Amino acid sequence: MVLISAVEPSTWAGEDCALAAQNLMLAGWSLGLGSCWIGNVQFYLNSPEGKRLLGLPDGCVPAAPIIVGYPASQPVPVPRNEPVVSWIG
Ligand SMILES: Cc1cc2nc3c(=O)[nH]c(=O)nc-3n(C[C@H](O)[C@H](O)[C@H](O)COP(=O)(O)O)c2cc1C
Repeated sequence: MVLISAVEPSTWAGEDCALAAQNLMLAGWSLGLGSCWIGNVQFYLNSPEGKRLLGLPDGCVPAAPIIVGYPASQPVPVPRNEPVVSWIG
């Protein structure tokens, strides 16, 4: 797991971490690695016990826990909803 953490307070910390996470996931894919954002573990990682386990310094907030590994198989693409796009002007 790669944990991307924010240093709070910071106006765009969450967005920056999400961008970094996506870059990491895309770069991983280009190297044959699969990944998944595991939001469920964020609550634990953000707890005093989780922070202690990780050795996170004060002021660091876990933002994007990304598990990375070599996929055992290639998932079949799932059907996608059409995007809703509103053109203005
Ligand atoms: C903020 C966030 C948290 C997520 N947390 C989990 C998680 O805890 N467990 C999990 O299996 N997938 C998690 N995912 C992955 C999503 O379930 C889903 O696989 C991913 O967003 C891709 O969706 P899509 O295949 O429909 O495009 C998370 C995704 C995001 C953006």
